[in-house]
Amino acid sequence: MWLLVLLVWFLLWAGGTYWYLFGKPSPFSLESVRPPGPLELDQKKRSKILKQGFRKEKVPENLDAIVIGSGIGGMTAAATLAKLGKRVLVLEQHDQAGGCCHTFTEKGFEFDVGLHYIGQLHENSLFKVIMDQITEGQLQFVELDKHFDTLVIGSGEKIRKYTIYSGKTEMEEHLKAQFPDDTKAVEEFFKIMKISASKTHLLAALKLIPQWMALFLLKSGIADLCSSIFRLVGTNATALANSLTSNKDLQLIFNYFFYGVPPKQSSSVINALLLHHYKRGAYYPKGGASEIPFHITKVIQKYGGRVLVRAPVNRVLVDNNGAAYGVTVKKDQEDVEVRAPVIISNCGVFNTFQKLLPTHIQTKPEIQKRVNMMRPGRGCLLVFSGFDATQEELGINSTNTWLFKSNDMDAMMDEFFSMGKDEAPDNIPMMHFTFPSAKDPTSKIRHPGKSCMTMLIIVNYEWFEEWKDTPARKRGDDYLAYKMRFAKNLFEWACSQFPKLRDKLVFQEVSTPLSNAHYLGSHLGAMCSADQNLERFQAEAIVRNRCDTPVKNLFLSGQDVFSCGIAGALHGGLLCASTMLKQIVYIDLMMLKKKLKRKKTRGTDEHVKKLL
Ligand SMILES: Cc1cc2nc3c(=O)[nH]c(=O)nc-3n(C[C@H](O)[C@H](O)[C@H](O)COP(=O)(O)OP(=O)(O)OC[C@H]3O[C@@H](n4cnc5c(N)ncnc54)[C@H](O)[C@@H]3O)c2cc1C
Ligand SMILES: *[C@@H]1O[C@H](CO)[C@@H](O)[C@H](O)[C@H]1NC(C)=O
Ligand SMILES: *[C@@H]1O[C@H](CO)[C@@H](O)[C@H](O)[C@H]1NC(C)=O
Repeated sequence: MWLLVLLVWFLLWAGGTYWYLFGKPSPFSLESVRPPGPLELDQKKRSKILKQGFRKEKVPENLDAIVIGSGIGGMTAAATLAKLGKRVLVLEQHDQAGGCCHTFTEKGFEFDVGLHYIGQLHENSLFKVIMDQITEGQLQFVELDKHFDTLVIGSGEKIRKYTIYSGKTEMEEHLKAQFPDDTKAVEEFFKIMKISASKTHLLAALKLIPQWMALFLLKSGIADLCSSIFRLVGTNATALANSLTSNKDLQLIFNYFFYGVPPKQSSSVINALLLHHYKRGAYYPKGGASEIPFHITKVIQKYGGRVLVRAPVNRVLVDNNGAAYGVTVKKDQEDVEVRAPVIISNCGVFNTFQKLLPTHIQTKPEIQKRVNMMRPGRGCLLVFSGFDATQEELGINSTNTWLFKSNDMDAMMDEFFSMGKDEAPDNIPMMHFTFPSAKDPTSKIRHPGKSCMTMLIIVNYEWFEEWKDTPARKRGDDYLAYKMRFAKNLFEWACSQFPKLRDKLVFQEVSTPLSNAHYLGSHLGAMCSADQNLERFQAEAIVRNRCDTPVKNLFLSGQDVFSCGIAGALHGGLLCASTMLKQIVYIDLMMLKKKLKRKKTRGTDEHVKKLL
């Protein structure tokens, strides 16, 4: 008798698990991917997709979900739901869709604001398969040259130049060739890169399984028995670099992608993942970054959804039972109410929990706990420069450059961020610059005879805070003068590498943390929303920072869920969709990947048969 009960129970459990994992319709399919159409060059037609202004009449009826913020995270969640037949409304505060993927054009120069290059887009990679699904095959990428990054360390006579190559084996080989005395260290680092990349899904899984189970696995030590990733993710990057080599230049190379926290406060896994991201190639969207929201919007619309801009959400509506049921959008000094059974917030933990929720809910201890796990990230300053000259005339190309005054990143960052407002512009220790027009072959057609450059540094919000209440674009002469001090020094530094730039400069515009707050809706002008510090990536913090929230029907998406970066935020969107649907869409993706592989081998078999 008992045996029978046990057997029935087991069968039910197994059946339930099977249904949970595999029994639901997949949002993804081979058929939904079409061959890419021609690039849409007509600005009016593009605006009709990317700049649809909010009006109550445009809101589709019987919405299934509202997404706040049209960054890649929110758009990914929205497109995934849409492809399951859900009707989704994406609301964006800026005047065009895209968040960090939007672009702006001025005086004939087009600039992207938060996408310099992305990786892991080689054929049949998970990231490529997802991108194809949410754009139905319409988004194309161009691979940059194998030599995708140059690092220049030091100054004067002691200057050193290193080059970073992509390639399954070339990346490691090329680095070893530049550090012949440290080949062992390079090998070890690449092993750690491999572990980090192949086990990241275990970290993501911590957010998908029940919280009590995840905490049990960690606290009991079972997780550590399964993989070293859970401990590695909580180790600081300086400690790792120190343990591998005493060569300071190489230590810097292990950590050169700066994003706001010094290596000593960064997770070694995150830093290893950053370099690994480009191992199989660095890519740029053909037609520029705005192609991303352009094509995803079309997919959302195809299934009855909408992406509306100039739609700042100022409140998430919560009923007496503590469940979210809608939002209000500020429109001409009025609050317009829009309702849906599910609200997905893609505008970061601080905006969501500290601005959008009703005050009596903000102060609840469970909300406070979620907020206190993170801290706001540092801001960034970008200099957008335009040149009336071709790439050939300027001697520029698709390779990105990183400049460092010294090889001690921890010390450089500590020193710079503790400087006062007046000292900072004349003491910039590191910068990154890139030539968007040289990365996109269609730029020659879209903006003939013109080239552009973007320079990037990390800055303190406090240096700009005194102007926070001035209106955008009219912040006053002192603000302009202050930000131009940064621009002048950065441009001089870039010219030390590309001297021909100097004479052809015709346009320059500087964005600061205040611009980020205005155009990207980012809390305190942060570059990556919440700080990407080590505490946030401790395994236990990864468990607790989930897509579901203490408010029923309110979910979090985007870069604050897992990590920043286009890929990081996209996974934030997929994790969010999985949590909300109670369906792990990664399993659907893995199945699709298998099908694609089979299709490809069949294709090759047929090709071989024909040849024979
Ligand atoms: C200068 C810079 C360079 C970068 N370079 C790279 C790179 O080369 N490669 C890479 O992979 N990553 C890069 N990143 C990081 C990457 O762009 C981001 O991590 C990622 O795009 C974030 O996506 P998201 O969807 O989470 O958020 P976002 O793209 O920030 O989207 C959030 C959206 O919410 C909107 N919003 C905010 N509040 C409201 C509200 N109340 N109502 C309505 N809408 C609201 C905002 O306007 C915004 O559109 C860079 C970032 C920056 C800033
Ligand atoms: C780009 O130019 C730099 C500087 O001239 C050079 O070092 C680099 O190799 C070039 N990259 C490519 C891809 O040609
Ligand atoms: C980094 O890790 C090492 C080794 O665990 C430790 O000694 C050091 O204090 C850590 N640094 C910081 C800033 O936490």
